[in-house]
Amino acid sequence: MHIFLYGPSGSGKSTVGKQLAENLKLPFVDLDRVIETSAGMAIPQIMEAQGEAAFRDLESAALKNLSGEKDSVIALGGGALLRKENRAVAEKNGQVVLLAASQSTLLERLKSDSEKRPLLAGNLEAKLFDLLASRADHYASFPLQLRVDEKSPAQISREIQTEVGRHRLSAMGEYDVRVGQFDKLPAGDFIVTDENVAKLHLEKIKHALRRDIPSIILPAGEAHKNLATVERIWRAFLEAGLDRKSAVIALGGGVIGDLTGFAAATYMRGIEWIAVPTTLLSMVDASLGGKTGFDLPEGKNLIGAFHPPQLVLADPAFLSTLPEGEFHSGLADVVKHGVISDPALFELCSRGLDWVKANIETIVKRAMTVKISVIEDDPYEKGFRAALNLGHTVGHALELVSGFRLRHGEAVAVGMVVEAEYAARLEIAPKGLPDAIRATLSALGLPVEIPSDLPRAEIIRAMRVDKKRSAKSIRFALPADIGKVELVAVRVMDLETVIGEL
Ligand SMILES: NC(=O)c1ccc[n+]([C@@H]2O[C@H](COP(=O)([O-])OP(=O)(O)OC[C@H]3O[C@@H](n4cnc5c(N)ncnc54)[C@H](O)[C@@H]3O)[C@@H](O)[C@H]2O)c1
Repeated sequence: MHIFLYGPSGSGKSTVGKQLAENLKLPFVDLDRVIETSAGMAIPQIMEAQGEAAFRDLESAALKNLSGEKDSVIALGGGALLRKENRAVAEKNGQVVLLAASQSTLLERLKSDSEKRPLLAGNLEAKLFDLLASRADHYASFPLQLRVDEKSPAQISREIQTEVGRHRLSAMGEYDVRVGQFDKLPAGDFIVTDENVAKLHLEKIKHALRRDIPSIILPAGEAHKNLATVERIWRAFLEAGLDRKSAVIALGGGVIGDLTGFAAATYMRGIEWIAVPTTLLSMVDASLGGKTGFDLPEGKNLIGAFHPPQLVLADPAFLSTLPEGEFHSGLADVVKHGVISDPALFELCSRGLDWVKANIETIVKRAMTVKISVIEDDPYEKGFRAALNLGHTVGHALELVSGFRLRHGEAVAVGMVVEAEYAARLEIAPKGLPDAIRATLSALGLPVEIPSDLPRAEIIRAMRVDKKRSAKSIRFALPADIGKVELVAVRVMDLETVIGEL
């Protein structure tokens, strides 16, 4: 699927297009340049010699020719989709992103080269005003719009990537992350999944791949994220005759992703894998970042390897079958991503559960972008990646002490509140922050208080063990504001006081 950039002259389609193409490692095509090359003359000359209708014919032909080409970022002329047939070609072969700008922004940008734009030659201001007025309804009819005023091309490109759900990661090997329909899945040689997901989705995936691809169906749940299961997967790979050129598909939540990724990292010294996450948590977190592994009886994720997939393809449609509790659990991590660096995502979450469910694709796309920007900056967790532990240090302890009665996401939600209270006391965060976080979590139906029956002393003890700190301090990711996290070493004694009071 192409990405078409559309909008009035001066909205930055070519500049942004080049940056976007570079980010996604896709070819960049400027449709006007294609037309000029094939006509052997510049657009003003074509207009003058043959008239606007002839130019539009050339535009239609150029657009049709591009439709069968490999995925590209394509900057369109400002009126390229006025013809219904052109719009249909573009919308069938890709996503159209309309770059919207105020008239003053456009005027400022067009001042220097309006003579290259025949429809604006002469009195630029009046011509631009008329052109925008005549196309206002047309431009407004494109569903995917982005305002570009006062934003840099890098910023606009990143926003487009979030909106279209498309990223190219490069900090730990190069791979694509996409939000899209599962039927766009490239071929794989084997599927690893679990019993719940298999019942609901395995046949659909096989159908999409158009062949009866071998698979292994594992028992579901964290209890099976162990060496014995990894060994089953390795043996299944062997039985299916997989070799070093094979690629396997992980179809499931974080457990399946972690197990499959690890088995792929180690089978014949490493084969490729594709992540098809099916839980909210795995879409916005577990499938991103290349961490794979399994648990030992002594603790979670103690054995593992960095081995990113070749592709992550997240289809939010899978979430419609996810049990309510699992969906909820994933939401805590979505809120966490908002607190880490996306105040707009946090605001969207505060609109409540119904809004979030109805707009889950937007939520998934925004939350993914937060994780991607963190792991691209610090892939091997030497520094800021630890921010992703927000809510988790207290959360893991709560999970453990509650005997796993609190689900992971519920524990993280309460953990975030405790950590926000602590940050406010340390004056790292403004006083109102804990209540703001409470309000958003509550709007999503997540708990915000430590259950009264959980002994506070045990929670502290569990945190110390989890962090392997016999020392007096624990390193924490603390919220400094909505959209800002600081990594701080905190004194256990002080934390005890906070937990004791909550
Ligand atoms: N690698 C990482 O960076 C990373 C990050 C965060 C978490 N994790 C790991 O992820 C795991 C948790 O992941 P999870 O919450 O996805 O749990 P999970 O994989 O256990 O899935 C939760 C449950 O939902 C079911 N399920 C999955 N998709 C479904 C669907 N579409 N419809 C119906 N049922 C479905 C599963 O069968 C399972 O019972 C933990 O092991 C954690 O350590 C890894």
